[in-house]
Amino acid sequence: KMVRKFCVGGNWKMNGDKAAIAEICKSLSGAALDSNTEVVVGCPALYVIYARGLLPNTISVAGQNAYKVAKGAFTGEVSPAMLKDAGADWVILGHSERRQIFKESDELIGEKCAHALAEGLKVIACIGETLEEREAGKTEEVVFRQTGVLSKHIKDWSNVVLAYEPVWAIGTGKTATPQQAQEVHAALRQWLTKNISQAVSDSLRIQYGGSVTAANCRELASQPDIDGFLVGGASLKPEFIDIVNAKK
Ligand code: G3P
Repeated sequence: KMVRKFCVGGNWKMNGDKAAIAEICKSLSGAALDSNTEVVVGCPALYVIYARGLLPNTISVAGQNAYKVAKGAFTGEVSPAMLKDAGADWVILGHSERRQIFKESDELIGEKCAHALAEGLKVIACIGETLEEREAGKTEEVVFRQTGVLSKHIKDWSNVVLAYEPVWAIGTGKTATPQQAQEVHAALRQWLTKNISQAVSDSLRIQYGGSVTAANCRELASQPDIDGFLVGGASLKPEFIDIVNAKK
């Protein structure tokens, strides 16, 4: 059976300043982190160089967004090449906040993923249904559609992690139950088998995101198709260390 390395991402979102980021990096530098878990912190683009300089090389840095071309007249945007140059190895794309607040479409997110991968960044690609969609029984339809559009643009999945983040669980304190999360992860894996390949289905890591805490991470981590987390609020706190060590 394929072993998928557990992968925990922190998504700091638009939080932190130099002092707060230095504090987080210091706490992570001193922590005993499970060496069997890959750790990535999603940092505001402006602070990528700074965080990279303060973190041990066992922890990777991710941008939280990047545009779909390398450079040019796109005022205010940051490219994957720039993130890479600043020391990031990863980028988070398609987060529900990008989809909802900044109106990013499935198609644009797919294009961004393809370009970031072509530039040599690894990608955490986010999907997930809203509460309204879940209550209408459309969870699978939505996550399959989102993954389907990603798959039009992503030809090699080896540098991709899929993050399943039900929108109703993000920043709400309402975590999906381990059963609810496992159910969607398993359905996604079946979709991958059917629509991409058995090899991708077996090897692609699927993170769960949405109100993950030190208190609920272990039970979630014990589910067979949950291969890590994407953590928002708790990634700004020392608690993130316990979440990284959920499998230890
Ligand atoms: O990307 C992670 C995020 O959206 C989850 O946020 O604060 O519910 O852990 P939070």
